[in-house]
Amino acid sequence: MRDFSQAEIEEEERYFHNVMETFRQYASYSLAANNRRRKDFYTLPLEDRQLLDELGYKQKLDEVDKAILANAEFLQEVVQDPEIFGHDGEKDEQESELVTGEGYRGGESMHLHDHGHSHSHSDPHAGHTHSHGASLNFGSGSEGGSQRSRRYRPTDADMDKLRSTLKQFVRDWSEEGKAEREACYKPMQGALVEHFAHVPVEERLSLRVLVPGAGMARLAWDIAQLGFACQANEFSHYMLLASHFILNRTAEIGQHQIYPYVHSFSNLQNRSSLLRHASIPDVLPSSLPPSSDFSMVAGDFEEIYGDSGSEMKTSVEHWDAIVTCFFIDTAKNIVNYLRILHRILKPGGVWINLGPLLWHFENNTTNDPSVELDLEEVKTLACQIGFEFHNERTVETTYVNNQQSMLGYVYHAAFWCATKQA
Ligand SMILES: C[S@@+](CC[C@H](N)C(=O)[O-])C[C@H]1O[C@@H](n2cnc3c(N)ncnc32)[C@H](O)[C@@H]1O
Repeated sequence: MRDFSQAEIEEEERYFHNVMETFRQYASYSLAANNRRRKDFYTLPLEDRQLLDELGYKQKLDEVDKAILANAEFLQEVVQDPEIFGHDGEKDEQESELVTGEGYRGGESMHLHDHGHSHSHSDPHAGHTHSHGASLNFGSGSEGGSQRSRRYRPTDADMDKLRSTLKQFVRDWSEEGKAEREACYKPMQGALVEHFAHVPVEERLSLRVLVPGAGMARLAWDIAQLGFACQANEFSHYMLLASHFILNRTAEIGQHQIYPYVHSFSNLQNRSSLLRHASIPDVLPSSLPPSSDFSMVAGDFEEIYGDSGSEMKTSVEHWDAIVTCFFIDTAKNIVNYLRILHRILKPGGVWINLGPLLWHFENNTTNDPSVELDLEEVKTLACQIGFEFHNERTVETTYVNNQQSMLGYVYHAAFWCATKQA
C-alpha cells in the first residue's frame, strides 16, 4: 500500500476529530430539534393546544427527550475509547469553540452509503484479531495544526450519518434486524457453504473469505462463526468506531438499549413506532471459538486491495471467496471494483453478491467521477473481466427499515455467485 503524505494524514485526523464531535454533540443537536416542536406547539391557539394536550403530545416530546439522552449516553460509550485510530479521546474532548462544517472531506469518500432512505430523499474479543494494520494511517500523533483549535460544529449530513449508524446497529446486532439479516446475509452464507461443501467443516479455517464494505461486520462475523477465515474491510469512521465497540467492548447480550426511530415523527402508526427500543447485541460478539480467524481492516477497498497494494499478501489470488452485500454500487468506477475482485480471488474462487445498484456517486456535488451501469451491463462487464455467473436470483429486502413505519422501501436486490475462471 502506498505511503500517505503528511497533508493526507492531517486531513484524516481532522476528519476523525469531526466524526468524534458529531458523536459528542448528538444530544444537543437532537434535543434542539425536538425543542423546535415544543416552540411550535406554543405558537398554536390555546384551544388547539388543549386538544393536543389531551392527546399527550407534550408528554410524547418529553419521552423523545429521554430517548435521545439514552442514545447520547450509548454513543458516548462508543467513542469513549477510540484507540483503534491511535487517537487520544481526551485530547479531542478539550476542543472548545465551535466552527462550521464547510471545507472538509465529509462529502467525499468516508461517508455512509445510505441505502436506508432517510426522510430527505456499525468483553474484549480475546483471541480474535480486530486488526487495522492494512489501513490508512489514522494515528500519526500529529494534531493537524491551527484548524483543530476550535470546536467543530457537525452539519446536518454528519448527524444524518450518525442516525444511520444507530439504525445499522439494529440491522446487524439486534433481534429486530433478524428479518433483514435472514433476507440478505443468510442466502450469502448458504451459497458460501454450498460452494465449499466438499471441504470438511473442520478444514474451513483454511478458506479465506473477504467482506468489503462490511458495515458493522455482522455478515463477516457470521461467516467466521461458520468456521471460515474471514476478513472484513470498511472505511467509514462511523462504522469502524461502532463495530470496534460492539466486537471488542460488549460483554452481554442485550447490554444496550437504543432508540433508533425517535428522530422523525413522520409516517408513524402509533407512539411505539417512535419510542420503541432495540436491545443490542442479540449475540455475544466474543463467542467466536478461540480457534477462529476474524479480522477487520480499516481503509479504502481500492487502496488496500487494488494495484497500489500489490506488494501485500492480501492482493493477488489470495481469497477463496469474496462476499459483497450492498457494496458494489459504492464504486466510482465499477470497472476498477470488478477488476480488483477478480484479481484478488483465487482461480476457481467465488464472488457472492447481493444488492441493488443505487450508484453512490451519481449526481455527486464533489466532482467525483461516477460510472452508472444497469444490472445487465454490470453482469456483462463481470463476464468480460473473467467471471462466470451461476445461482442468480432476485431477493426482496429492506435496508435499515423501521418495520413499524407507514413508509417502507423494498429493494429487488440482485443476488449471484460468480466464479473466477481458472
Ligand atoms: C450500504 S453499506 C452496506 C454495509 C453492509 N455490507 C450491510 O449490508 O449492512 C456500504 C458500506 O460500504 C462501505 N464502503 C463504501 N465504499 C467503500 C470503500 N471504498 N472501501 C471500504 N468500504 C467502503 C460504506 O462505508 C458502508 O459501510
